[in-house]
Amino acid sequence: MTENLNGVLDLKSSILELKKKKNAIILAHYYVADEIQEISDFIGDSLALAQASKKVQSDIIVFCGVHFMAETAKILNPTTKVLLPDIAAGCSLADSAPENDFRSFINQYPDAVVVSYINCSSEVKAMSDYICTSSNAIEVVNSIPANKRIIFAPDINLGKYVQSVTGRDLILWNGSCMVHVNISLDKLQSLLNHHTDAELIAHPECPSEILDKAHFIGSTKALLDYVQRSYKDKFIVATESGILYKMKEAAPEKIFIAAPAVQSNSCACSECPYMKLNTLEKLYNTLFHETPEIMVNEKTQEGALKALNNMLALS
Ligand code: 13P
Ligand code: SF4
Repeated sequence: MTENLNGVLDLKSSILELKKKKNAIILAHYYVADEIQEISDFIGDSLALAQASKKVQSDIIVFCGVHFMAETAKILNPTTKVLLPDIAAGCSLADSAPENDFRSFINQYPDAVVVSYINCSSEVKAMSDYICTSSNAIEVVNSIPANKRIIFAPDINLGKYVQSVTGRDLILWNGSCMVHVNISLDKLQSLLNHHTDAELIAHPECPSEILDKAHFIGSTKALLDYVQRSYKDKFIVATESGILYKMKEAAPEKIFIAAPAVQSNSCACSECPYMKLNTLEKLYNTLFHETPEIMVNEKTQEGALKALNNMLALS
């Protein structure tokens, strides 16, 4: 490993060296820590990461994100070894839809088309007709014939938002993201009162009371694009605070304020504890030992791939 002048392990250059030696690629979600984003080959939202995973030709993908994202990469690119720096990096939304409960739920509506948000397990994906992300959920729902009933799972907030935009009467699963539902409406209102020149922008995983106040609603990538094209120069950002790193990089002259969480953590902003399990040390170790590796059984992979490809064909 390389050491810097202070004798402190220079983890970043060690990771980059190892990555080259092993013909690996680092994919990262916008919500991981800044220092990981800095050395990643590709950073994106869930849709862009799925599209990028499919095209990877390296021997190894190190996925700096959460388990369902790494699993999605494995489903889309089964011959590539996929590593996740911390196997405990889960997702409250994915956990809210256990396989057997979900099967019983969809069995109650045998004629319904099942649309599942990508934040779910590979088993739930395999029971679905379409996968969607926050970038294309409206497009996916609109592509389904009007006479068809639609089950939308597992995020009830995204489901309600899609329902309000498309006018479709969706059968909703009651799951949610612990980060977006933990944004404090009261603290947000105080911020809006204090910064009257700021625009509130929000991710559709937020509850409707927050979305009702937002000037713009979109996926992490859509929020990032919006702040660059908007004539405004101050934004209150209602999503995971990791996105602020790219926003500041893309529009350094603008001001970004992270939406406050009900229970304040060290930064008093909204952080996903699962995304933050990714660290430089774990990234180095996962590349070095080539573990933990993500595996998906063949039958599940086949079913989940079909649903993912139905989405990708539309996007
Ligand atoms: P997007 O990446 O689609 O914006 O979703 C955010 C998210 O919560 C990922 O876990
Ligand atoms: Fe899951 Fe929410 Fe974390 Fe995204 S931010 S990984 S939806 S818990």
